[in-house]
Amino acid sequence: MKITARACSNIALIKYWGKRDTHLNLPAVGSISVTLNDLHTTTTVDFNGQYNNDQLFLNGRRSGPEETTRVSAFLDRIRRRAGIKKYALVESENNFPTAAGLASSASAFAALSLAAAKAARLEISESELSVLARLGSGSAARSLFGGFVEMKQGEKDDGSDSFAFQLYPKDYWDLRLLIAVTSTDKKKIGSTDGMKLSKETSPYYNQWVASSHGDLTDMRDALKSRDFQKLGELSELSCLKMHALALSANPGLLYWNGATVEGIHRIRALRRQGIEVYFTIDAGPQLKAICEPDSVAEARAALEQIPGVKNVISTALGDDAEILEGNK
Ligand code: PMV
Repeated sequence: MKITARACSNIALIKYWGKRDTHLNLPAVGSISVTLNDLHTTTTVDFNGQYNNDQLFLNGRRSGPEETTRVSAFLDRIRRRAGIKKYALVESENNFPTAAGLASSASAFAALSLAAAKAARLEISESELSVLARLGSGSAARSLFGGFVEMKQGEKDDGSDSFAFQLYPKDYWDLRLLIAVTSTDKKKIGSTDGMKLSKETSPYYNQWVASSHGDLTDMRDALKSRDFQKLGELSELSCLKMHALALSANPGLLYWNGATVEGIHRIRALRRQGIEVYFTIDAGPQLKAICEPDSVAEARAALEQIPGVKNVISTALGDDAEILEGNK
């Protein structure tokens, strides 16, 4: 009952922010993301009956109680469903620095869901697996699929219709992402707490939820027609709306630092020079530039020149999560 699986990270172009149910981790809005080839998590799950509780190792080091409890609660769902009682040894490695404040929960819970479900011999469809991953982290539901991915907000109270699916494989459109790392500090307010505060205190929360449907429709159209300008403009719009919502919480949530803001200005300056590049930013200070292959070199050079940018990671789009070892 030992399986190793790998899943790539992802970045949302149309953002998820806000939960309609915290317990089941149900999103208040749908989202659309791209899966990133060069940032991934590899996880081995071994239900071997040797332990009295679950053991979790991240990048070779035993995890603290908070992380272990979160993973253990997730494994309990799988054990209940599979009718097994054995505890597991879970070993997980990121190929990118976790401390760099880059999203790791998406690739981590996607790899864990796939490895644990297969190790527990669960007979499970792709969408059911995505539902399972969502219970670990909302964005993890998207990381099971490669290329361009949509996450459905769903309507049902039990969350069975809130899962992700692939819109187009990575070969459909060769997009590139550049991640400008501007801080390696751990963020102070995680996405779950940030979403809760935004929902409870922002006067703009209901407008955010209402306007998300139009953004999703427009992004589906941009993808269908491979309209890069439209894709880029919509990505910036959704990102800035999400951050405006976070800023309007009480107390306001500001995830950016000075280099993040400078990055926004530089990217818009590049566009004025005729270089088509757009930005998006998650709940942290790293700036992500979206471009096509012929703009990568110029965009990279511009980002590297920003004071406060520590390094720039370049990536193309990635594939579905996969099993590396064990019974496929
Ligand atoms: O899945 P979570 O709880 O880490 O939330 C993800 C939130 C954002 O990264 C800011 C947006 C998104 O859609 O990925």
